[in-house]
Amino acid sequence: MAQLLITGGAGFIGSHTCLVLLQEGHSLIVLDNYSNSSPVALERVAALAELSFSANGERERLELVQGNIGDRECLEQLFNTACKRGKPIEAVIHFAGLKAVGESVREPLRYWNVNLTGTGCLLAAMDSHSCRTLVFSSSATLYGYPDTTPIPETAPIQPINPYGHSKAAVEQLLHDLAASDPNQWRIACLRYFNPVGAHPSGTIGEDPLGRPNNLFPFVSQVAVGRRESLQVFGGDWPTRDGTCIRDYIHVMDLAEGHRSALECLFAEPAQVLTLNLGSGQGASVLEVVQAFEQASGRKVPYEVVGRRDGDAAITIADPASALHRLGWRTQRTLDDICLDGWAWQSANPSGYGDLG
Ligand SMILES: NC(=O)c1ccc[n+]([C@@H]2O[C@H](COP(=O)([O-])OP(=O)(O)OC[C@H]3O[C@@H](n4cnc5c(N)ncnc54)[C@H](O)[C@@H]3O)[C@@H](O)[C@H]2O)c1
Repeated sequence: MAQLLITGGAGFIGSHTCLVLLQEGHSLIVLDNYSNSSPVALERVAALAELSFSANGERERLELVQGNIGDRECLEQLFNTACKRGKPIEAVIHFAGLKAVGESVREPLRYWNVNLTGTGCLLAAMDSHSCRTLVFSSSATLYGYPDTTPIPETAPIQPINPYGHSKAAVEQLLHDLAASDPNQWRIACLRYFNPVGAHPSGTIGEDPLGRPNNLFPFVSQVAVGRRESLQVFGGDWPTRDGTCIRDYIHVMDLAEGHRSALECLFAEPAQVLTLNLGSGQGASVLEVVQAFEQASGRKVPYEVVGRRDGDAAITIADPASALHRLGWRTQRTLDDICLDGWAWQSANPSGYGDLG
């Protein structure tokens, strides 16, 4: 079992992936500045993983470090300490970053700084400690307005906002880095489609700060009574019911995809692996509303308003490469997503803030 560094591990996808990796037997150091998350998420992950404590009262296999990926000194200390303990960091799963498209349009400098410069700092620290195995959180946002759907990894990279540009730049940097030092770097760029849902226990889930930007957290906040109604952006798209279609992937499926990618990187020769992680199925906004109403037994009032800038009608992954290379495919349905998402939202109406 490996010693892993998980950046952004307190966040939505990171926390669920930490749980899967701990259950697999790995030891984790989580680096997070909690700018969009709470350490409570990781306390709950530790409880779910039933971690034991050593004689001196320290929790085993999960260490939390509050810090910034752009802080080289902090990274050096982290890598050095792991080495001194005789458990050098063997691989990094890099979730830390900023992810709100609209915010990235308003604050491009901050997005480029955290997502690209921060990643550069992390890569330099990894390189200097000969840690050259990395799983990177990329995004389907790279495809912009896709020319074909389902979208294969070979589709043109044509992001349409600063968030997407920053992810595309990191992917390019990773290719350049791998080419500069042949047979050294083992890298997986995982392009997520729409991660949603929660762990079925309902104890960890998505907890967006402020008004959610994405459909799912919005729908669940309306169902739980935190918001009055949902705005559906456009009812005249060329789709089966006129609303946008997306490829929703259960966050536990996504977490398991990271475990599979890591296993593949460890087992195979050095490479840069680029894979879509999606279900290959699409659901429209109205289908999501209906499925969520069914799962929660609550009404989700909505109104159809005008289209929103930057949306595409249909975005669905072609997940064939992930199946071929990792033997991974999604296992959970839209109904599972809604049931688990509701278990989380109804038990934690204000997210992790409920616990304090
Ligand atoms: N959720 C999505 O819809 C989605 C889709 C595609 C790609 N991604 C990417 O996946 C990754 C994880 O997304 P998520 O949904 O879990 O987001 P999240 O905001 O819940 O998690 C990101 C974590 O990184 C931390 N962080 C941010 N800046 C940091 C910094 N400078 N130093 C240390 N920690 C920092 C945050 O506190 C948070 O815990 C991100 O890189 C995101 O761009 C997310």
